[in-house]
Amino acid sequence: MTTARDALTIGLDLGTSALKAVALDAAGRIRARAGASYPLATPRPGWSEQDPEDWWRAARDCLARIRAATGDAEILGLGLSGQMHGSVFLDAEGAVIRPALLWNDARTGAQCAEIERRLGRARVLEITGNRPSAGFQAPKILWLAEQEPEAHARIARVLLPKDFLRLRLTGTAATDAADASGTLLLDIRTRDYSPEMLDALEIPRSWLPPVHEGPEIVAHIDAAGAAASGLPEGLPVVAGGGDNACAAIGAGIVAGGDGVCSIGTSGTLFVHAERAVADPEGGLNAFCAAVPGGWHLMGVVLSAGGALAWFAEKVLGETAAEGAVFDRLFAEIADLPAGAEGLLFLPYLAGERSPHMDPDARGAWVGLSLAHDRRHMARALVEGVGFAFADCLARMRGLGLEPRRLLLAGGGARNPHWREILAAQLDRPLLPAAAEDGPALGAAMLAGVGTGMFADFGDAVARCVPAAETEVTPAADAVAAYGGLLARYRKLYPALAGAGLFGER
Ligand code: XUL
Repeated sequence: MTTARDALTIGLDLGTSALKAVALDAAGRIRARAGASYPLATPRPGWSEQDPEDWWRAARDCLARIRAATGDAEILGLGLSGQMHGSVFLDAEGAVIRPALLWNDARTGAQCAEIERRLGRARVLEITGNRPSAGFQAPKILWLAEQEPEAHARIARVLLPKDFLRLRLTGTAATDAADASGTLLLDIRTRDYSPEMLDALEIPRSWLPPVHEGPEIVAHIDAAGAAASGLPEGLPVVAGGGDNACAAIGAGIVAGGDGVCSIGTSGTLFVHAERAVADPEGGLNAFCAAVPGGWHLMGVVLSAGGALAWFAEKVLGETAAEGAVFDRLFAEIADLPAGAEGLLFLPYLAGERSPHMDPDARGAWVGLSLAHDRRHMARALVEGVGFAFADCLARMRGLGLEPRRLLLAGGGARNPHWREILAAQLDRPLLPAAAEDGPALGAAMLAGVGTGMFADFGDAVARCVPAAETEVTPAADAVAAYGGLLARYRKLYPALAGAGLFGER
């Protein structure tokens, strides 16, 4: 283990709105942070694209600033993390063929159906741990073949977003098992691409980078990467991981049974497992973890904090960017009883991933009466988001995966009222995370493990992750009330979807 006092690793997270980099020292302290944002294009409804050259500009900018801020410290390695599922299409010269299609791009419904037609939903689930869903990489490649055949004919490589940055920095194409799980081409048990999936979808293996484990050193900064970023030539770069896998490491989730519920714009309920476990109905995503030999099962709630921001901005006409509006809303709803006096809310404002995997699902308040006002609507909305998380947890429990410890992370988790409501809805104690540097910290920790700055993951967590805040325990009367309400909430989606009230069905 390297004990140099002033040794650092750098972690980089290629987010959807911004890139963030951190420098982490051997004592687990963040020594420097840098961020840079870039635009997201929606050229048509449901499309979501970014220019990989914007990511590259942001990465060079952040890495140069980190380098300048860390002075003479010895940099031991770099770890990469980022938004999952996206497709960067490159030609034989390494040039970007067209803007990248992102994880939240919904254009590939027909291609998902085609993948199920070719292999059968059950077989895709068996191999990849997941149902085809619009954001994944494989249906995007099929879409390009159908809709932009000239671009498709030029493909020499298809990379996940963060792996594009690795190629520019090191000249090496490589990925990790956690991020590659989001292609729908990986066999999550063998942690390598599935020949059956590749054959059935006519995707040449040569287009895809080799798959490694998260902390493995897979490349070194080359002369061009050094000149562009200011990082030393020859610096080791570890494989890294997708953003949820790295955020989990950054929150200290590295062992079986530990989980984290994260409330950002969207929300995730994530549990680490020591065996490859998938939801047989495909309502949860099953991915390899960035910790070697680990997996995770994840429920994704597409509108979590985003639902509350939508209500504040679009319904109340407030400015959600100022967080004060949320504190005011929670103060207003705190005295209302569980169940908002007979009002339920379905939070599927942007469709839903878990458990329905239905991009056409939509939101609804059900049970409105003259006795209700905006406070009831806000309370029902907060509870609706909680029920969406409870739906995911019920699925995990059904698979025998009750998280032993469940951390609570993300901006939404900061409000004490929301913490209490959620603990009662999930019927279990929650541990609010004390500090968060998210995926960038996880990526820097992976680089620390891979380069020997930390002895192992346990050592990395002990040094880098502060102890959680005081546990939030659920109140018995609220647990009882929410148990009955969850059963009612569960009837809403099948009733509305079954009646053909969503989308253009
Ligand atoms: C995970 C997912 C998102 C993206 C963007 O399956 O789609 O969390 O990784 O951050």
